[in-house]
Amino acid sequence: MLGNFSYCNPTKLYFGSDALNYLNAELPKYGKNIVLIYGGGSIKKNGIYDEVVKILKDNGKNVAEIAGVMPNPTVDKLYEGIEIARKHQADFLLAVGGGSVCDYAKAVAVSVNCKEDPWDKYYIRAEEPDCEILPLGCVLTMAGTGSEMNAGSVITNPKTKQKIGHVFVDEKVMPRFAVLNPNYTLTLPHYQVMAGVYDIFSHICEQYFSGTDDNTSDYISEGLMRSVIHSGRIANKNTQDYEARSNIMWAATWALNTLIAKGKTTDWMVHMIGHSVGAYTNATHGMTLAAVSLPYYRYIMPYGLQKFKRFAINVWNVNPEGKSDEQVAEDGLQAMENWMKELTLVLKISELGVTEDMLEGIAKGTIILPGGYKVLTHDEIVKILKDAM
Ligand code: NZQ
Ligand code: ZN
Repeated sequence: MLGNFSYCNPTKLYFGSDALNYLNAELPKYGKNIVLIYGGGSIKKNGIYDEVVKILKDNGKNVAEIAGVMPNPTVDKLYEGIEIARKHQADFLLAVGGGSVCDYAKAVAVSVNCKEDPWDKYYIRAEEPDCEILPLGCVLTMAGTGSEMNAGSVITNPKTKQKIGHVFVDEKVMPRFAVLNPNYTLTLPHYQVMAGVYDIFSHICEQYFSGTDDNTSDYISEGLMRSVIHSGRIANKNTQDYEARSNIMWAATWALNTLIAKGKTTDWMVHMIGHSVGAYTNATHGMTLAAVSLPYYRYIMPYGLQKFKRFAINVWNVNPEGKSDEQVAEDGLQAMENWMKELTLVLKISELGVTEDMLEGIAKGTIILPGGYKVLTHDEIVKILKDAM
């Protein structure tokens, strides 16, 4: 391990079928005025809304709501939520939903007391907050993004066709606590469950495929990947399997709570391309990643061959005997492709609504990061996108 780093993760987790009870322990720590933030209505159908509201009332809270936070939340929705939180003089934000709702709550938290335009400040200029940040908590209903235990927040601007994530440095942006009850994820449709499984897998790959040093983080990543592959297979056959779904939920949190990035440069180009695809199509996040991953990894494999070989052997049980390094590495990616097909993931961006005339714009909107095995050029991104069609 050659990197230098600091590590602190202040989010307290409550995991399991009785996790929501701990809201009663957390709520008294914050002021009376709470803004409850949720999505398009799934929590009303499955009863989570009623459970949460009862606990808020029992704790004597004065509750306002921001409802209708859409998947891939938009900047206009952010402006609307900031006004609601200001008017309510919010002391605390409670996000109940998936990554979109949790990311959105973070964006509101850093914006309520901010005098500048939050889109320009946080997403375009990637600045840190210099105002008071509202504390927030999360009741998670979809496993995938890891937003419940990190400081990431992704907002989409449909007008400029930009989807930008900011990973805040300030730990106050992270949820103070997160309630993780796997039962709450059981009403998700199969498509969303599989999108979440692949999002988790991709987060681990993004951190794993960087560096050449011997790094404990990579061994943790390999264990997490094996768990996600195994539980993903079970959940694909039966989305109601609690054991598999609880493993997926726990793996999602550890895949992106900064632990496995420690000592690593990290890649994130699958996400950068996937986000740009999302900005053009509003497609489900995990599926945008699935559709660009294989063309991307096949393209960069020669630049990180030894890591791809290790991935094949340690994650996919490829037998290296009598094979060239290239063959072992390709067998690993083939095993990954087979697993992705088994999970019925979307493997073509054309199936997500991308047309040929969008490719230049998607490539232009892709933020190029330097941490992986190859710093991509614009033309290389266009080539990868073409291969993903
Ligand atoms: O809006 P509702 O009605 O709640 O429906 C949602 C939504 O349509 C539904 N859903 C959630 N929980 C459910 C449920 N349906 C039935 N039963 C339940 N229990 O699922 C749909 C998708 O929800 P969403 O929150 O959009 O999914 P996800 O958790 O994948 O979040 C995606 C967003 O997170 C960002 C993505 O870019 C995207 O904007 N990301 C955030 C990251 C972070 N904070 O670190 C990292 C990720 O890489 C990602 O970029
Ligand atoms: Zn992701």
